[in-house]
Amino acid sequence: MVILKSPKEIEKIRVSNQIVADILYSLEAEVEPGIDTLYLNDIAEKMASERDATPAFKGYKGYPFSLCTSVNNVIVHGMPSKKLLVEGDIISIDFGVLYDGYYGDAAVTVPVGIISEQAMRLAQVTKESLYKGIEKAVPNGRLSNISHAVQSHVKAAGYSVVRMFVGHGIGTSLHEDPQVPNFGKPGMGVLLKPGMTLAIEPMVNEKSYDVDILEDGWTAVTKDGGLSAHFEHTVAIAESGPVILSERNGS
Ligand code: MF3
Ligand code: CO
Repeated sequence: MVILKSPKEIEKIRVSNQIVADILYSLEAEVEPGIDTLYLNDIAEKMASERDATPAFKGYKGYPFSLCTSVNNVIVHGMPSKKLLVEGDIISIDFGVLYDGYYGDAAVTVPVGIISEQAMRLAQVTKESLYKGIEKAVPNGRLSNISHAVQSHVKAAGYSVVRMFVGHGIGTSLHEDPQVPNFGKPGMGVLLKPGMTLAIEPMVNEKSYDVDILEDGWTAVTKDGGLSAHFEHTVAIAESGPVILSERNGS
């Protein structure tokens, strides 16, 4: 069941997402060769606690960290560790919080120092595909118009969209209906309405979309070892169209 939110609730979801956006912005600035990803996790936890926000992922189905840090061939759910980032890596940083009863969730892929043209293009196309999807988050559209817009953009660039993981509704739960796939024919799925809040999160692989899950039960990697990128925004559907709640507008 898709839960529609009142304007007041959407404001609360915006507040949670602004906390997420500010923290992601700070984390991005910390990314450089020679740091480890546990350091990023620590910063995220400290900043969340300073704002009285609860990290959303820690403890979710037993996930042990507050952040997902997915480097290079890791698609999503990479676990923070002592392993150092090196020049040329790309890292997806995914973070969520619970604040005042509502969730925020967003992700960015950022370069570690100077990266290859290929890696840069993959990240760029993935980000663009997110915005193509967001454009279709309009009243009276169909859910799969979002999915199709993401996939079309990715396909045209010669990359593939991951099938195993999808975006989701978000509100008083981190994951609500509907699921938001990043692939499919247009014109299908639920009718989009004002008051819906969706986390749209394309995961894009350089080569095939096939996934392997490592023995830790979480880390999702590309089966062929190719690079993967991931961007996510929480978006509200308003009468006037999509409103990106996790786009940072703080100082
Ligand atoms: N952004 C991801 C999601 O919404 C992150 C979840 S990590 C988990 O599914 F640990 F919480 F599962
Ligand atoms: Co999400």
